[in-house]
Amino acid sequence: MNLNLYDAIGFNKIEEVLRLFYDQAVIDPLLAHFFFEKDIEELIQKQLVFTSILLGAKNLKYQGKPLKKVHERLNIRKVHLARRNVLMGEVMAQCGLPADLATKWQSLEQSLNSQISKDEAACND
Ligand code: HEM
Repeated sequence: MNLNLYDAIGFNKIEEVLRLFYDQAVIDPLLAHFFFEKDIEELIQKQLVFTSILLGAKNLKYQGKPLKKVHERLNIRKVHLARRNVLMGEVMAQCGLPADLATKWQSLEQSLNSQISKDEAACND
């Protein structure tokens, strides 16, 4: 059976998680500087569509830029990816997302690490 995470979690729950994540990220000591003077609402909208498709949505079209192109000039390091994972985990739990769905969502995100961070691309561990 092909489990579709998107159907199991739902668009509204994905949006709730991402909104709460960005509320935290913009005041997080390790992450806030990346988002200084960015349009957070636009970022949430793009990431909502991107993430929905990543999780299995069939009826949406991502119209943002390719992830590698957007993130390569930001100098994101492993420590930032790790911090994002911790924050996402906390926010998913706060939103009542069952742990098995949260783990699957997080591992799909982690499969993108080499597109987000050069640090990650250079490391095999
Ligand atoms: C620590 C990790 C990350 C940081 C610090 C980060 C930071 C950012 C920043 C600052 C932007 C705005 C860039 C700009 O407008 O110039 C952005 C855009 C974006 N990010 Fe990330 N990001 C991270 C990880 C991720 C991950 C894991 C995903 C996918 C699940 C993602 C998806 C996106 C998308 C879809 C956009 C919008 C692209 C566009 O503007 O067309 N990001 N990110």
